[in-house]
Amino acid sequence: MLALLLVALFAKWSAAALHHLFVGTVDGGSLYVLEMDDMERTLTVLRNETAAGASPSIAFDRSKLFLFGTRPSDGTISRYSVGPDFSLKHEGTGQIPESCNTTAFKSIKISSAIRNPNLIYGSATTGTCSTLFSISITGYYTQRSNEIAGDIRSFAWSPDGRHLHALDSESSSLLNFGIADEPDLKDLLDTKAIKDTKAARQVITHPVGHRIYVVTRDTNELLDIPLLNNDRIDGPIAANRSAILVKDTPAGQYVTTSVAISSSNATLWTLSHTASPENTFMVTAFLLDAKTGAVQRRIARASFRNYLGDGTQQPTSVLIPAPFDGDMVALTTFPGAMVAVLGLVGESIKSFGRAMLAQDEGCCGEGVWLK
Ligand SMILES: *[C@@H]1O[C@H](CO)[C@@H](O)[C@H](O)[C@H]1NC(C)=O
Ligand SMILES: *[C@@H]1O[C@H](CO)[C@@H](O)[C@H](O)[C@H]1NC(C)=O
Ligand SMILES: *[C@@H]1O[C@H](CO)[C@@H](O)[C@H](O)[C@H]1NC(C)=O
Ligand SMILES: *[C@@H]1O[C@H](CO)[C@@H](O)[C@H](O)[C@H]1NC(C)=O
Repeated sequence: MLALLLVALFAKWSAAALHHLFVGTVDGGSLYVLEMDDMERTLTVLRNETAAGASPSIAFDRSKLFLFGTRPSDGTISRYSVGPDFSLKHEGTGQIPESCNTTAFKSIKISSAIRNPNLIYGSATTGTCSTLFSISITGYYTQRSNEIAGDIRSFAWSPDGRHLHALDSESSSLLNFGIADEPDLKDLLDTKAIKDTKAARQVITHPVGHRIYVVTRDTNELLDIPLLNNDRIDGPIAANRSAILVKDTPAGQYVTTSVAISSSNATLWTLSHTASPENTFMVTAFLLDAKTGAVQRRIARASFRNYLGDGTQQPTSVLIPAPFDGDMVALTTFPGAMVAVLGLVGESIKSFGRAMLAQDEGCCGEGVWLK
């Protein structure tokens, strides 16, 4: 009996795992490390680290030894080393390549490279002029694309890292850059407008299928766009469109801000919010074909409330897919300073923990999972 009990206890103990999420701020001076316990379903703030400034977009390099955070207001990027205790040490701050006649941008988004492990890639936009850039993790070496008349706030890698798909929200076009072994960001292979689409907000790719997904901000649509097997865009873009919200939602009530695919490769998540009525966030999960990525149907929906500000700030909220098993996503909101983890259990969305960082009014920007 005792042996059995011990086995049972041990089984429970060994199944629990701790996961760590690093979170930046939109307008603050800290970087946070949160710890999620997937058995207890709790999310707690483990560390509050001093940052070089705000970092609305953050990324690890491929080795995950360094965390990078970027500040659009002065076009800088800071490097932090990650300690074994999850502490962060600021090691230096550099300028991203100047472009569009400025170093002050509205938005900068960064991501680690897939094929070139010593590079961080980014997009920088003034709202009407954008560039893509890369910077070596040492900071010594930078490159940038030509200037693009448009508003690039989002880009995604093809699974093999040979293509970078950038989304221009201004014209709702996809720009497909070829990434060679010695990349120069000058190899623009395709520029294709997505028909009948306005305010395309974010682009992601499927981990194995040759497919792109885009969400639209104001019309709350999920666009499913198949690519050729070489990840090029075929002809004019033909997208299969799915409504994200319930049918009778009044037009213009919600905005959709983010999209992500979790670890099964078969669940796609979207995040939408509305200030009225009552600061409501809506999370919707779709079932994908795990191999081809084709959107099959909507499977679950969950809503929650959180402060969205008094209208003087542009609210942002973002989904961060978890790299570990279990079909989970983290999400962060600004203002409202919330970080939460949601998971799909059967066909319903459950909470795996929530942390409020209300002491920090500039929280929260993007997050990244360490593992
Ligand atoms: C940058 O400045 C140059 C010279 O004043 C001007 O010709 C060019 O159009 C400007 N570029 C942008 C993107 O504003
Ligand atoms: C759209 O979905 C239909 C039905 O699932 C499918 O037959 C068609 O190939 C899809 N079209 C595109 C462009 O993905
Ligand atoms: C999802 O795709 C990745 C490839 O990026 C693969 O490593 C992983 O095993 C896939 N997950 C499942 C559950 O098939
Ligand atoms: C993190 O630390 C800073 C500096 O001490 C403080 O201003 C901020 O409120 C702290 N954040 C939270 C969420 O407690």
